[in-house]
Amino acid sequence: MTPWTPDSWRTRPAAQQVDYDDPAELAGALARLRRLPPLVTSWEVEKLKAQLAAAGRGERFLLQGGDCNERFVDCESSVIDAKLKVMLMMSAVLTYGGGRPVVRVGRIAGQYAKPRSEGLETRDGTTLPVYRGDLVNRIEFTPEARRPNPANLLEAYTRSAMTLNFIRGLLAGGFGDVHHSEVWDLAWADNSARSAEYHALLANMRASVRFLEATLGRPLAELANVDFYSSHEGLHLEYEAAVSEKPPFRDGWYDLSTHLPWIGERTRQLDGAHVEFFRGIKNPIGVKVGPSMEPAELLELIRVLNPLDEPGRLTLIVRMGAKKVAERLPRLVNAVKAAGRTVTWCCDPMHGNTFKTADGTKTRHFDDILAELDSNFAIHADAGSVLGGVHFEMTGKNVTEIVGGACGLTEADLAQNYESDVDPRLNYGQALEMAFLIAQRLRGER
Ligand code: PEP
Ligand code: CO
Repeated sequence: MTPWTPDSWRTRPAAQQVDYDDPAELAGALARLRRLPPLVTSWEVEKLKAQLAAAGRGERFLLQGGDCNERFVDCESSVIDAKLKVMLMMSAVLTYGGGRPVVRVGRIAGQYAKPRSEGLETRDGTTLPVYRGDLVNRIEFTPEARRPNPANLLEAYTRSAMTLNFIRGLLAGGFGDVHHSEVWDLAWADNSARSAEYHALLANMRASVRFLEATLGRPLAELANVDFYSSHEGLHLEYEAAVSEKPPFRDGWYDLSTHLPWIGERTRQLDGAHVEFFRGIKNPIGVKVGPSMEPAELLELIRVLNPLDEPGRLTLIVRMGAKKVAERLPRLVNAVKAAGRTVTWCCDPMHGNTFKTADGTKTRHFDDILAELDSNFAIHADAGSVLGGVHFEMTGKNVTEIVGGACGLTEADLAQNYESDVDPRLNYGQALEMAFLIAQRLRGER
């Protein structure tokens, strides 16, 4: 294999990249980006890697979730606060109800770039560049908005920093502390079907904490310290390269714009630029694994991305779709096991289950999401392997983007509060319900 350098990806075909019309303007933005301080540190990144390794062994459980497409307008206190709350609620249910400590990873603070099936979009005879996420351009259908604008790279980095800063401040101030878990309540929480069950779980959890503290004769300070990590799809390679560096006292390069970058389903080609770039950085990385993946290809990908078989380095985020998973996943799990490779298996039950309603609205059915999750649990159990975590598109808002669930959302309800520009998300109540269902499965019940 040729040696890795921070620029070696440039010699490979790079899918889903952006055509900027002014190279000097792009170079200027990247130069400014390179000088800015990192958003995360290599210490945090290594800590997450160790936690993902534990998730791979079944000692922890990864909860990765957030928007499909984070937007600049979402960099607002109430929106960030709601996202953090839903993560904390779900992780309380999974930890206390499921019995595994949760590794919380948001699709947040940088999830600003989207892969698209076409490069151009035509409406009423006018053709413009497609919207590729706020990192690149804006969604309005005008030439100005759709022009890939290098200034957005700096804006994205700044908003990621502000988002992370707010989250860090909240958590440092005790927002994640189960002693004060009443602060996680959302205004609309009481409308949710699982609300009573959730409040009962919290009350039990707090009673257990009081009991333990009384027994130990000291407060459990550990409960105040909640880790929270960021992740995004590492799609835009100019951006990811500009925000990567070799920290002092470290051997290798880190992408310090996020803790856990992942390679998407459309950019995971073995000879492609994304695999080349991410093989050389030290972060834990994710790779989406869709239904076309063959066992030999997966083993080769694992060999390239994790040659030293480092635990926690590689999370396979499997997104087959409920209909295909039973046929496609077992042979991958068996091949990885037979080869003795160490990976952390994660189930993304969202991206293989998208469909359009009769009026063209993109949605997913709660039952399909749950069915894919159930298949994952069963397949790993049969193979003597471990499902280490889950990956959701979800929000703390009360949106109507996914049908089904205890709230009984129908296709006719979707128009009430549909906000996503790209993929549909579980709303607060559906996310909480999902957490209860997963906790049951972690306890070995159905
Ligand atoms: C996503 O996670 O939003 C996404 C585009 O997924 P995938 O690469 O699995 O299609
Ligand atoms: Co998506």
